Amino acid sequence: MDPSGRFDFAAAYDELNPGRDDHLFYRSLADEAGATRVLDLGCGTGTLTRALAAPGRAAVGIDPDASMLGVAREQPGAALVDWRLGHSDRADTGSADFAVVTGHAAQVFRDDEEWARALADLHRALVPGGVLAFESRNPAARAWEGWTRAETLRFAGPVEFWHETAWVSLPLVAYDTLTRDPRTGAETSDRDILAFREAAALVRSLEDAGFSVIHEYGDWQRATPAADSPEIILVAQRP
Ligand SMILES: C[S@@+](CC[C@H](N)C(=O)[O-])C[C@H]1O[C@@H](n2cnc3c(N)ncnc32)[C@H](O)[C@@H]1O
Repeated sequence: MDPSGRFDFAAAYDELNPGRDDHLFYRSLADEAGATRVLDLGCGTGTLTRALAAPGRAAVGIDPDASMLGVAREQPGAALVDWRLGHSDRADTGSADFAVVTGHAAQVFRDDEEWARALADLHRALVPGGVLAFESRNPAARAWEGWTRAETLRFAGPVEFWHETAWVSLPLVAYDTLTRDPRTGAETSDRDILAFREAAALVRSLEDAGFSVIHEYGDWQRATPAADSPEIILVAQRP
């Protein structure tokens, strides 16, 4: 908590989200694709962006949240990344051969037109043959049913942090992120709304934007999608 009682979500983000299997998946995918110019839309604190950047591989991280990007810029290796504050329109045309939208950031585009605009910008940013990969939680796995204090409680230092589902009106799900500092009793609550799109809708949105889907997986170990897979992981190509 800062002195005004506000919880600094950006500063705590990486501590609250350790051990990311998705990072291993996206790093392998970038290697397999022979990526040399990477674009990470909704990069947040940029942990994956920095892991993808390397000598001989340029990386651009775009995010509209100045606090998240502020944390990203302070991390070791941050100088290897071109950080951009803003939305998908900040991506340069033909600037990337590999693009990702990770940490379920694809679900923050709750309006279909907004999602279509982001996909159009990603298509424009990729060179022909370029690869786009992202994931979205499978609505059939009903992840929101586990968003209770009992199942999500974790700690940022001494501060309790948890999620609670507020309402479900598919494809939209609203949930609250709550914190409580036991030292002061200070509490915060923020509401977010996510889109839980079906796989078919996601594939259609990619095709409408001019992509061809080349792989679909149900989890980070690349399982074939099943009805109750936790994730819808899509790998698409700009022809
Ligand atoms: C859950 S975080 C994921 C961050 C990071 N990709 C990761 O894997 O940890 C979602 C991110 O999406 C960003 N975001 C929200 N709206 C966005 C938009 N319209 N375009 C791009 N990014 C957006 C947020 O600022 C936030 O950093």
